[in-house]
Amino acid sequence: MDLPVAAGGVDPPTNLMPRRVLVTGGAGFIGSHVVARLMLMGNQVRVLDNFSAGRIENLVDAAYSGLTESDVVSGDIRTPEGVEVIHRWQPDVVVHLAAQSSVPAARRSHLYDADVNVFGTVNVLDACARSGVRLVINAVSGAIFGSVAAHELPVGEDRPIAPVSPYGISMAAGLRYLDWYGHQHGLSYTSMVLGNVYGPRPQGSDCGVVSLMADALLGGRQVVIYDDGAQTRDFIYVSDVAEAIAVACHHNGVGMVNIASGRQTSVNEVYDTVREASGVDNAARYEPLPWPGEVRTMALDSRKARELLGWYPKVGFTAGVRMTVRDARRRQDASQILSPVWALERAISH
Ligand SMILES: NC(=O)c1ccc[n+]([C@@H]2O[C@H](COP(=O)([O-])OP(=O)(O)OC[C@H]3O[C@@H](n4cnc5c(N)ncnc54)[C@H](O)[C@@H]3O)[C@@H](O)[C@H]2O)c1
Repeated sequence: MDLPVAAGGVDPPTNLMPRRVLVTGGAGFIGSHVVARLMLMGNQVRVLDNFSAGRIENLVDAAYSGLTESDVVSGDIRTPEGVEVIHRWQPDVVVHLAAQSSVPAARRSHLYDADVNVFGTVNVLDACARSGVRLVINAVSGAIFGSVAAHELPVGEDRPIAPVSPYGISMAAGLRYLDWYGHQHGLSYTSMVLGNVYGPRPQGSDCGVVSLMADALLGGRQVVIYDDGAQTRDFIYVSDVAEAIAVACHHNGVGMVNIASGRQTSVNEVYDTVREASGVDNAARYEPLPWPGEVRTMALDSRKARELLGWYPKVGFTAGVRMTVRDARRRQDASQILSPVWALERAISH
């Protein structure tokens, strides 16, 4: 079979308007922003989620743009019934974001992590290949590159994949399977390697350092920083990621592409920025890392995304942190006066 996309290969950019986009994990943190963005762009969108981490109230924005209850499918990507919607609805683009997305949880339960991120991903890709899906877009983490020396940053897409954590390994396996489906089944794909995504609506106890710090400071709790806080990550605001995915839906597959700021920001810098944005001036407590082998520094080079998708990050770190802190404050206030489920029902019925 002739292949439209080689591993890491590139189709020429086009302006394809997708008719139907299915977003797996669409009720999660990144997924809900993607769904809202796609709805605003006038696409037909369906969400597939098992609500293990996602929340129906995350879809309120999308509901205001016309997403209805019948567009939200409850199902598990690891089962044949879960991915049945791909066969039945025949989307032309599948944005695959359903995942076990927590690095610490993957350390605690790597079998579950592999089950969702490897087996679940293969199950989704198989359904896509059988249903004639035009394009698959998925998200993986910079953890696939493992430890990289500071002088070799930012990392380009051609860097060897060398994960050192269960989460990095399962993400890398999903990426490799996507490559294989590209070769063997002609599935066109864009595999986005994301920096550390932050912004409004994160979930759970491992929801990302910016939100954890904001919630702790606003809630009057002391922030714990592991190690010396000089470790760095590449932070990217969630609306920038949603935009990258929405833009990619309108192109053919571009293979692997970094979506990140290209800048290293240390945990200490994150803390200073969140402290300033929240107006709460508590000292953090420093503790030794509870696990060995933590990646020390990371930044991703996103020039390929600019070249092939015309995408570049728009939201600076300080502005993004301010918006995240504002959202954290609003959530804390709103939790006392308004049920979010009621808000979704109200949004859908108007
Ligand atoms: N948030 C980040 O900083 C970041 C960075 C790099 C990559 N990623 C990747 O981006 C994707 C989305 O991440 P996120 O931060 O939105 O995570 P999230 O946990 O908020 O969203 C994942 C969604 O998948 C759903 N899900 C989990 N298991 C499922 C299953 N078996 N069947 C159906 N649905 C299931 C959850 O309910 C949730 O709504 C993931 O692949 C994640 O690994 C995230």
